[in-house]
Amino acid sequence: MLNFDFYNPTHIAFGKGRIADLATLVPAHAHVLILLGGESARKNGTLDEVRTALGSRQVSEFNGIEPNPSFEKLMLAVEQIKKEKIDFLLAVGGGSVLDGTKFVAAASLYEGDPTEILSSFGAKITQAMPFGSVLTLPATGSEMNNGGVITIKSRGAKLPFLNNNVFPRFSVLDPTKTYTLPQRQLANGVVDAFIHVMEQYLTYPVGGVIQDRFAESLLLTLIEQGPLAVESTDYTARANLMWTATLALNGLIAAGVPSDWGTHMIGHEMTAKYGIDHARTLAVVLPAMMQIRRVAKQEKLLQYAKRVWQITEGSDDDIIDAAIAKTRAFFESLGLPTHLAAYDIGEDGITAILKQLEEHGMVALGERHEVTLAESRKVLEAAL
Ligand code: NZQ
Ligand code: ZN
Repeated sequence: MLNFDFYNPTHIAFGKGRIADLATLVPAHAHVLILLGGESARKNGTLDEVRTALGSRQVSEFNGIEPNPSFEKLMLAVEQIKKEKIDFLLAVGGGSVLDGTKFVAAASLYEGDPTEILSSFGAKITQAMPFGSVLTLPATGSEMNNGGVITIKSRGAKLPFLNNNVFPRFSVLDPTKTYTLPQRQLANGVVDAFIHVMEQYLTYPVGGVIQDRFAESLLLTLIEQGPLAVESTDYTARANLMWTATLALNGLIAAGVPSDWGTHMIGHEMTAKYGIDHARTLAVVLPAMMQIRRVAKQEKLLQYAKRVWQITEGSDDDIIDAAIAKTRAFFESLGLPTHLAAYDIGEDGITAILKQLEEHGMVALGERHEVTLAESRKVLEAAL
């Protein structure tokens, strides 16, 4: 029986030219800290547009949030906020800048050791500084959700946190701001969004009929529009990719249904250990997860095969094999490898990844908490 809460307070301003809306979205008397990644937003003019829209507001900058943002770097932003008495944060960048800003928003008002924000997976957050975002990379969904993932470099750990205090107040999504993205980042974005849907869809049926149909439409849109968006700067393709990636992880398709997230938890360890791009870790783990969990996920695998890939011929086993092969081929067609060998990771690497999973308590993953370390080993071995 469906029974759930659905809460999402983020205002979305979507379309070409919408950065100008910052003039009204940001409080008029705010002292704003703009948080940035490397050089991309400065080079492609996004930062200039943002500064123009902010008009006469007092504005400071914090530069250099890395891909897979680090606790160590972000704590420097917390210092700056306290010193300069900042009262509003504006993230300008991709998922890493957004996640980093969420962490900074919580950490700057946190009383106590801010690593507790991560060791409690966000549960200890009780307040956060208000913030908004200007998204430049469609992928993570961070622009409309209450989560983030932060790396503690000194511990080699990449840890997720979730809390309703870290929803952005607003996010500006201008598809033309994606025009300068390298193809690799666009392809990563398509696959990350695809796998966000899969983590919330490929579990077991609970009567969430509309959640399933929404999820399937997001997958079909990514299969159709994703390659177009990677290959060209066609506005329609970029706009559809951007909105699909947002809807893939804003809580809508997760309402009232089980979620897996095992692929992500294993993938985070691979990024922490080997520095592999987030989406690329997922492209390796998901097909192997589908293979190893094929019995537990059988009903949804058959539904996915039929409704997303139109596979109907053969035995149930044949249909599931074909669906896994199609998924793998889709990732490969976008240039993302689906085997550990592409990253020179063998049996020793698998043991190292499992050790990290154990250290971080990731020992009962999946929608039924059945993915023990032994099961994760099978998944990684199937990915060799
Ligand atoms: O740093 P800059 O110079 O901005 O360059 C970035 C970065 O090198 C570049 N880029 C971004 N926008 C650009 C651009 N280059 C040219 N033109 C533009 N318009 O792209 C590179 C990658 O950026 P990053 O923000 O790291 O990528 P992404 O958006 O894929 O974010 C990945 C991070 O998000 C986390 C991941 O774990 C990873 O740390 N995730 C966050 C989630 C969430 N909050 O809900 C869920 C996801 O599953 C994911 O775990
Ligand atoms: Zn992801």
